[in-house]
Amino acid sequence: MGNTRIENINALIKACQNKMVRTEFISNNAVIVDNRFLFINFKTPLNSSSFEKLCNDKDFSFIAFGKHVKIPRYISFLDPNIDKKYKDMGFTVYDSIEDIACEIYRQFENNMPCIIKKNSGSLGVNVFKTGNYDDILSAVNKIFNNDKNYDYLLIASEYIYIKTEYRVVVLNNKIELVYLKDNSGAKFVGNLSPLHFDNSKAVKIMDSKVIKRIEMFLKPLFDNFAINFAGFDIAIDNNNEMYFIEINSSPGFEIYIRDNGYNDIVILYEKMIEYLNKLPK
Ligand SMILES: Nc1ncnc2c1ncn2[C@@H]1O[C@H](COP(=O)(O)OP(=O)(O)O)[C@@H](O)[C@H]1O
Ligand SMILES: [Mg+2]
Repeated sequence: MGNTRIENINALIKACQNKMVRTEFISNNAVIVDNRFLFINFKTPLNSSSFEKLCNDKDFSFIAFGKHVKIPRYISFLDPNIDKKYKDMGFTVYDSIEDIACEIYRQFENNMPCIIKKNSGSLGVNVFKTGNYDDILSAVNKIFNNDKNYDYLLIASEYIYIKTEYRVVVLNNKIELVYLKDNSGAKFVGNLSPLHFDNSKAVKIMDSKVIKRIEMFLKPLFDNFAINFAGFDIAIDNNNEMYFIEINSSPGFEIYIRDNGYNDIVILYEKMIEYLNKLPK
């Protein structure tokens, strides 16, 4: 994170100033709040490391959350070249990259295109929309290629014809902020994440009907999990069906702040500090 201060930390500092809470910098993007709460980069002290593990693993979070919210149909595939000791993880083991590409093609040929993505990704890295066998093979190769974006697991899933995609920010099982990832009129430049299109915008949603609908969608999950702090990617498709796409336990606010200013995010951090302060010492 170097010398540039990220917007999450800028917003946190403003919130602490407003609430007259002490801050101590360990480094540019690492702050101790009120002598006890550590914030580092995008990470907050609200989530347990086990919850973060669940969120950072798409396969794992689909299993856990897919019981409570609608998710796209998907299958996970293990790298055929992974060390033998990791092969006993409950996934079907395929002999080769080609065998995996054939199986994905077989599973989705009546339902093309499909999405192929690394299991533990973020920021839209190695997320591919594939429409034929060759595209599938190339996507599988890229994910299991031994480079810096390597993953030992990939997700192949049905393609959702997304009409609208929202980021839903939840604090203590309550929706605090919903924004539209607006890429209408924006230009695709290789990353499928809507806010990575050129000229895309984060647009705050105030329509209570939309927020209520998302609330109803997430309620079964809230009834079964304590979501302390997370950003959900929620999509609505052309048939008006709502889908859970992913959960992020350390959401970033750079783009939201760029397009909407600090106010909403500072309020969010103020609520976070209030929440933390209510926890037993
Ligand atoms: N099954 C899918 N159908 C259509 N689009 C998808 C699907 N899965 C992901 N996407 C698109 O790709 C983007 C990035 O995928 P996501 O799973 O959120 O990965 P990342 O963790 O890299 O953000 C999503 O925001 C969504 O717009
Ligand atoms: Mg995402």
